[in-house]
Amino acid sequence: MKICVVGTGYVGLVAGTCFAESGNDVTCVDVIEEKIAALKRSEIPIYEPGLEELVRRNIAEKRLNFTTDLPASVKAAEICIIAVGTPMGQARAADLSAVMAVAEAIAKAMNGHKVVAIKSTVPIGTADRVRRTIASLTKHPFDVISNPEFMKEGAAIEDFMKPDRVVIGGSSEDAIEKMKELYAPFVRTEQPILVMDNRSAEMTKYAANALLATRISFINEVANLCEKVGANVDEVRRGIGHDRRIGHYFLFPGVGYGGSCFPKDVQAVISTAQDYQLDFTLLRAVEDVNDRQKRFLVGRVLEHFGGDVAGRRFAIWGLSFKPRTDDMREAPSAIIIDRLLAAGAQLAVHDPEALDEAKKLFGNRVSYHRVNYEALDGADALIIVTEWNEFRRPDFERMKKLLRAPLIFDGRNVYDPTTMRAHGFTYYSIGRVPVRSE
Ligand SMILES: NC(=O)c1ccc[n+]([C@@H]2O[C@H](COP(=O)([O-])OP(=O)(O)OC[C@H]3O[C@@H](n4cnc5c(N)ncnc54)[C@H](O)[C@@H]3O)[C@@H](O)[C@H]2O)c1
Repeated sequence: MKICVVGTGYVGLVAGTCFAESGNDVTCVDVIEEKIAALKRSEIPIYEPGLEELVRRNIAEKRLNFTTDLPASVKAAEICIIAVGTPMGQARAADLSAVMAVAEAIAKAMNGHKVVAIKSTVPIGTADRVRRTIASLTKHPFDVISNPEFMKEGAAIEDFMKPDRVVIGGSSEDAIEKMKELYAPFVRTEQPILVMDNRSAEMTKYAANALLATRISFINEVANLCEKVGANVDEVRRGIGHDRRIGHYFLFPGVGYGGSCFPKDVQAVISTAQDYQLDFTLLRAVEDVNDRQKRFLVGRVLEHFGGDVAGRRFAIWGLSFKPRTDDMREAPSAIIIDRLLAAGAQLAVHDPEALDEAKKLFGNRVSYHRVNYEALDGADALIIVTEWNEFRRPDFERMKKLLRAPLIFDGRNVYDPTTMRAHGFTYYSIGRVPVRSE
């Protein structure tokens, strides 16, 4: 099939590349010329495991092209996929300006029937709006399909190639068949393709993210209570996770959720509910808990130092909003770093992949270290914000020599408190009784 994917961010680039990998003829479009020029040279603007190799191969085998020429790619395509960003806009609703601009551009370029598939996460009713807009600008026939994306950054290729399910929203049988054909190579092990109406497909994406965010806020609340009552949240998490009605996923306490999706999507659901005079009380609480949780770790650091960290130096391991990505959008590390800097602390930061992105946010306000141990040199404590695998088995004795005191604030429960006690650390984590060195 001939496909055009508009927007070459985390979603568009992964989707376009995976569609090419399954034999389609794919053109990826973006407005950023430097990005397209770099992609043509197989230079990937983001860190996503496995992506570079796939892009390189599909460019070489001439199934994957990159361009800024949207009209030409639309004309050549049967299916046009919209995968541009939908950031939080005014009144905390999703900003649809990029989606609508692309819909208009597609309409103006049409030269025959097109399936327009919306992959961006969009408010309920957007497919109808896109349909009206395109119809007002062209006489050519078209169908609008809602095709939300559920991939996780850091495992995006795997998720795209082996999705738990594919959701296709629409009413045209031909267009739905075309989409099913497009996804057939990815559902060969019987993952379902769920066909529904556009609005249900749009709502499915928001409901999924809202529920996952709810689980995170829930376990963070449980963690905070565990600490007060002297229970261990890790044991509790295991205890409830083995219940098949509950499961183990998204029940890890930490420094709050971030990233380009959960915060804005939870906001968008609250805002949509308000549009219909509905108060989504639960999600407002989910947000409140998350805001508080993002501040929790710094509060703990301040408490340990009697409220004064001016002139103290801290090492921070992990900056991206989660491991295996360089994405810093809404990363809890940004709030933690801003608050510590405001309190007069000096910060030495390390991340395996996100240092370049972090520099755009923090400039010269912190020092950057490619090697995790180097950040520890002369620091009063280590603060762990993102649980990269690289941090799980460090040389604790080396850490103790580098740090001014054996003190760790772990925002992700990376270590076992018993091990930390044995190594002589004072160790604070989330939802577990603190360990104090003698
Ligand atoms: N990032 C994720 O893990 C994820 C997962 C599922 C769904 N989503 C949703 O997918 C959508 C895209 O997310 P993303 O993280 O890939 O965004 P992104 O910001 O990484 O990428 C968006 C791209 O669209 C391009 N763009 C903007 N306006 C354009 C236009 N008029 N024409 C052509 N290109 C244009 C931008 O230059 C950018 O390269 C969002 O709605 C998001 O909520 C994201």
